[in-house]
Amino acid sequence: MYPFARKLADPRAIADVAAYVVTLCIPNDSGKYQGADAAAQIAEGKLLYLKECSQCHQTNGEGLKEMFYPVLAGQHFQYLLRQMTEINDAKHPG
Ligand code: HEC
Repeated sequence: MYPFARKLADPRAIADVAAYVVTLCIPNDSGKYQGADAAAQIAEGKLLYLKECSQCHQTNGEGLKEMFYPVLAGQHFQYLLRQMTEINDAKHPG
């Protein structure tokens, strides 16, 4: 992520790009988990999510604006995995 910060040094430009990206549609075939045992892992992940995460990020991953709990639904698998690994290694309110 670091290199783009040099091209978009202006906070207004960064906000403009974020404002545009948020309007884009999620590609249907992008970023899904592709493992052989996907169905079992997804079922297991659902139980864990409902137990450990949904009180903040909400049942359908829609987040809670008032509390600054971010939306998780629709995120790319690799992106989520990286975020969760980094959060787990460092700092997370949950
Ligand atoms: C106590 C409330 C709380 C709980 C429980 C919680 N989170 Fe979060 N989560 C937050 C908040 C607040 C943020 C935004 C600040 C941050 O990134 O640390 C966040 C950020 C995230 C992000 C980064 C989102 C992004 O787009 O950058 C991910 C991914 C995430 N949480 C996943 C999870 C998962 C998975 C669980 C369950 C294992 C979980 N969280 C449990 C409050 C919570």
